[in-house]
Order: sequence, then C-alpha cells, then structure tokens
Amino acid sequence: MPPHVPADPPAELVAARLRDPYPYFAWLRRCAPAHVERRVGRPALWQVSRYEDVRALLTDTRLSKHPGRVPGYVPGPAGLNRHLVHADPPDHTRLRALVNSAFVPRRIALLEPFITRVAHRLLDRIEHSVHVDLIADFAAPLTFRMICAILGVPGRLDTTATRETLMSTIAPGTSTDAARTERDLHDLLDALIDGKRSGSGGSGVDLLGALVRAGDESGAMSEEELRSTAYLLLLVGHDTTMNLIGNGMLALLDHPEQAARLAAPDPGPGFVASAVEELLRYDSPVRDATFRCAAAPIELHGQVIGAGEIVSLLIGSANRDGERFTEPDRLDLGRTANEHLAFGYGPHFCIGAALARLEGAVAFPLLLRRLGPVQLAKPADELCWRPARVMRGLVALPLVRRA
Ligand code: HEM
Repeated sequence: MPPHVPADPPAELVAARLRDPYPYFAWLRRCAPAHVERRVGRPALWQVSRYEDVRALLTDTRLSKHPGRVPGYVPGPAGLNRHLVHADPPDHTRLRALVNSAFVPRRIALLEPFITRVAHRLLDRIEHSVHVDLIADFAAPLTFRMICAILGVPGRLDTTATRETLMSTIAPGTSTDAARTERDLHDLLDALIDGKRSGSGGSGVDLLGALVRAGDESGAMSEEELRSTAYLLLLVGHDTTMNLIGNGMLALLDHPEQAARLAAPDPGPGFVASAVEELLRYDSPVRDATFRCAAAPIELHGQVIGAGEIVSLLIGSANRDGERFTEPDRLDLGRTANEHLAFGYGPHFCIGAALARLEGAVAFPLLLRRLGPVQLAKPADELCWRPARVMRGLVALPLVRRA
C-alpha cells in the first residue's frame, strides 16, 4: 500500500487506547505516521506519532496555537481560553514572560523542604490504612497544595471541592451539570481575584497577586487573560504532576527490582533524577500536546495538512519511538540517553518542568519507603483511566498493604 493511503487502525487497538495507548501508537508510527480523521461538520484531525516529526512540529511556526483559526472550535470553558497555551507571538511571548519568573529552577528549589513536609504529612494520615488510593490520598492533594502555594491561593480555597471543580472542566461527560460547573469555576476565580484586589487573598510566592497588580497597574494583561491564566495554572499545575505520580507508581509496582533501588537510602549519584526522567518518558502524563492547527498547508509523509485543520502531536507515542530510544517499551530507571518530549519542546516548553521534577524526586523515594509492601487492589487492566483529551492519568490508584 502506498504510504499516502494509510489503512485505518485495527478496531481492537482503538477500543483499548484509553487503557493502553501504546499498541495503537506503535501501529500509527509503523503504518500511518500522519493519520487523518475526516469528521463531518468538524475540522479534520491529524495525529502525528513519530519522534522526529513531533519534535520538528513542536517548533514549526506554520502551526498556530490560536483556536480562533478554527471556526467554531472552543477548546475550554467559555471566557477562559486567553492564556499562553492558546496564544502565538507576540501575545504568547508577553504572557509567558509574566508568569515565567515564578517557576525558574532556583526559585523552585527553595520549595523542597515544603514539598517534603507536605508529603510526610499526607503519608502520616494513611500510615495505618490497609487500603489507600494513591491519587486521592496523596498525588492530588500534594500537587494541588504546591501550585496553590505558588499562586498564593488562600487556605479556605485550597480544598478538594476547588480541585474537583477544576478537574470537572476537562473531563467531558463526567459532569452531570456542565453549566453549574462553569458557574462554580467563575465563582472560584472571582473569589481568588477579588481576594487579591482587597488584599485578603493569601500569601506565599503569590504569583496571582503579582499578575493582578501587573494587569491593574500597567495594563500588562487584560481581565480575561488574567482569569484564563489563573485557571490554566491551577489546572495544569496539579493535574499533570498528579498523573506523573500515579502513572509512575503504577510502573514501579510492575518493576519491583527497580523500585527497590529507588527506595534505597543511597541509590547512587543522579539515580533519582534519571528515574524521574524515565517515568516521564515511559508513561507520559501529557499524552498528546495541546491544541495546534495548521496556519498554512504542511506536507507530511506524502499528504497535505490543510490550513485550519487540527494537528495532534502524540507525545506519548514519540517517547516510545524505537528510532529514538533503545528498547523503548522497557522501563530503565538508569537510562541515560533520554531526550524525551514529556515537557514538550521549543517555545511552549513546559513552564512547570522544574517544579514537576522536584515533586517527582521528593515523592517517589518517599512513597516507596513509607508505604512499605503494597500491591494493586485490583488487576491493572481493570484500573480506570480518565477520558481526558490531552492528559493520561488514572481516576484512582487503589492499593492494598500486604501483610
Ligand atoms: C509531570 C508534570 C508535567 C508535565 C508532563 C507537563 C507537560 C507539559 C507539556 C508537554 C507542555 C507543552 C504542551 C504543548 O506544547 O502543547 C507543557 C506546557 C506548559 N506547562 Fe507543563 N507539565 C507538567 C507540569 C506542569 C506544572 C507543575 C506547571 C505549573 C504551573 C505547568 C505549567 C505549564 C504551562 C503554563 C505550559 C504552557 C507553556 C506555553 O504554552 O508556553 N506544567 N507542559
């Protein structure tokens, strides 16, 4: 079959791809590296799966991140899409510069004692539990606490209810009342931003306070950009790292001999860092890059991506590409040549990478040491994965302590 007329992927791979996308990704890389789905009444959707293509397109200016280029396409909750993930230069450059300084590695490194303290406190609470849900009991509250501390979210809003309101905006079909969810979300943002303006809104690094001042005093960002940015940071600041901890622990449970080394008091120089990188590569928390569409026609593997068509860059697939990684389906916590794309590449490279790496480096060894012998409370293929568009993460990771 000529390369420009690829077959459709086998139905069983498509059906299983939420639970296990890797056989589906392998098929795409082999048989249809630029796969298009033409949809009635909606723009065509391209999936790009090979490492070299994904990396090249992450920096290709013919791809735009502005959803306004696709008529009728609304990527997130109404009124909350004017943030850096959905912007091209010069707006992207301006918005990124406003938030970047809060996330630079030397500033993030200062948070290590705080992350460790919060992680210990969460583990204290489940010390005597036989059944533990690693997502609800640990990964979600830890990661949400950290992004709240950076933004300066006051304690009364740093709650499970706030987290659930945010998460329900990105899980289509899980909310019983989408309008109510949006209202709750806007109420939450009002409370946060009004709190900053009246001076009663919490402390910490207080990035949100700084953004409010930047908007009010020098017009550096509009009110819609401010609200969108607050929403974006609260959401991606925790959803992503929560998935790193969940997906990573699932992989470690499946590889006890490697987990034992990570749990050791002195695993060797650089081992914790390389382990976090490998867990990011092996089951990438951001499975597909965020929204992009062609601003001009792009030729790829003998086909043409038309202007206005949506392009999904499959990071989770690129990170398992055998042309780039030796034995890509093997977890190797000591892997050295590991230029994965889990944090993206180029101008939209993840702003929170230093924070996520630090949270992972604190959480994994601590969890392995303090949880003691645990196992999955149900078979791995019965675990429930969230039906999200971009992320790959578990609804719950139920564990049971072994006697
Ligand atoms: C393991 C955790 C994380 C992973 C795997 C991850 C992954 C990514 C990826 C792949 C991108 C690029 C998306 C694209 O180009 O389409 C990105 C962008 C971004 N990430 Fe992260 N991220 C993580 C944690 C965080 C955290 C903790 C924050 C904190 C606020 C954060 C904030 C952002 C922001 C604001 C962007 C947009 C940057 C831009 O468009 O210029 N991320 N992330």
